[in-house]
Amino acid sequence: MEFPVKAGPPARHRTECAILPVFDDRQLHGATKEFDRAARGAIAKLIRAGDSPARLGACTLVHRTQGTAAARWLLVGCGKRAEFSAKRLTSALRAAVNALRGGGTKEATSFLGYDTPLGAADAARYSVEAASASVYRFDELKSKTDPPSRLAKLTLGVKSGTSIGEVRAGIKIGSAVAAGSNLARDLGNRPANVCTPSHLAETARNIAKRYERMEVKVLDEADIRKLGMGALLSVTQGADEPPKLIVLHYKGAAAKEAPIALCGKGVTFDTAGISIKPAPKMDEMKFDMCGAGSVLGAMLSVGELQPKLNVVAVIPACENMPGSRATRPGDIVKSMSGQTVEVINTDAEGRLILCDAITYVQRFKPRCIIDVATLTGACVIALGHVYTGLFCNDESLAKALLEAADRSLDLAWRLPVHEDYGESLRSNFADFANSGTRDGGASVGANFLSRFVDGFAWAHLDIAGVAWRANANKGATGRPVPLLVDYLLNLDLQ
Ligand code: BES
Ligand code: MN
Ligand code: ZN
Repeated sequence: MEFPVKAGPPARHRTECAILPVFDDRQLHGATKEFDRAARGAIAKLIRAGDSPARLGACTLVHRTQGTAAARWLLVGCGKRAEFSAKRLTSALRAAVNALRGGGTKEATSFLGYDTPLGAADAARYSVEAASASVYRFDELKSKTDPPSRLAKLTLGVKSGTSIGEVRAGIKIGSAVAAGSNLARDLGNRPANVCTPSHLAETARNIAKRYERMEVKVLDEADIRKLGMGALLSVTQGADEPPKLIVLHYKGAAAKEAPIALCGKGVTFDTAGISIKPAPKMDEMKFDMCGAGSVLGAMLSVGELQPKLNVVAVIPACENMPGSRATRPGDIVKSMSGQTVEVINTDAEGRLILCDAITYVQRFKPRCIIDVATLTGACVIALGHVYTGLFCNDESLAKALLEAADRSLDLAWRLPVHEDYGESLRSNFADFANSGTRDGGASVGANFLSRFVDGFAWAHLDIAGVAWRANANKGATGRPVPLLVDYLLNLDLQ
């Protein structure tokens, strides 16, 4: 999608559709006021008649646009003006783009960011992310596609005197985040027979090819064995599909600058192995690589934005399948760290592949390690589909991630990693087990991972509840790409 910027008198913008905010104080503001003046009070009249509700997201399409250069007006409810925020702008614009999508509109101009306390640059960034998310469709595997979303261009109308350079900078960030999120969505939505570990590796290779300062290395099963990654190998051993360990390195700063390390869980299908899952909703376990997808998405955004940072992404990718060669409950495996693990439950496989990735990435002496994983059903019970679970051993890293989450509207909530959550991982036969009590299961999972972090600042993002939507709108969300990219960009600014 294209996002040009245009300043000047709003009512004279030539556009197929002007998207105009309506607030619930029965007064007109900003661009809407100017349109109303040009149209001799037509908008005020509609609102008085109750035909254009100010309820957030309510859309009213008007064709009689006398006095203005727009062929249509789309009046969009934005709620109370004093409460207008990035979140509301996002909701309102998503509703507007959805309302236009079915119709014939190929191009529109949004005035939602024309006159807001958010500032034109931030408004532009959020508008680009919201519009891109609304037009996103996954139809590459349908033989007959729905008529494509015709909305291909959204002009951002800004006040005369606004710094166009700043607005363009906002658009650039928004577009990069949108492109990264769309990659994460595509990878998540692709079924496990398409999105294999090799497909994830190929995607990483393409990112490295497309962007400067990006290098990739893909390790295969023999390499993984040489490294001694017995935990990762124990998960993949039931599958015919070959595993990969993907290392994607972005070098935007001097070599002596410690990199940020990102690790993404890449289980391309989680049957649970011998501890097999029940049939209902098992198809959703194709989304079990969304940690990997979001890390690749964030790396694509980094490639677009070229921040002055070093970032190293490590993605352990494999399938978790049952079979005669699969790991049995009770089997004991040796992780790359040297610690032995009793595999009580072969469904607790995410932590097994991540623990070896976390050990591996410490060779880069990272400034911090952030792992991203659809790790536990318990996190979904705790936080639902709203917040990512954040577990962290370092106060300033936790603070920076929570601030990035708030700014990017990609929310995270801190949960505890206290050592007592590890009590149920005690094993009579190995150093510890891979699964313990269901109670507090998200923290038990985090505790397991913490045993592989050797003196580094570390954060674990459990995205089990937020990486995809179920039911009628089933599909990957692209989260937490916005959070990760916002975090990285703010490091670059410091
Ligand atoms: N991929 C699942 C977690 C999951 C389940 C995410 C449902 C989203 C929805 C993970 O591999 C898993 O199965 N975790 C187990 C861990 C348990 C066996 C300790 C779980 O949460 O039940
Ligand atoms: Mn599992
Ligand atoms: Zn899993």
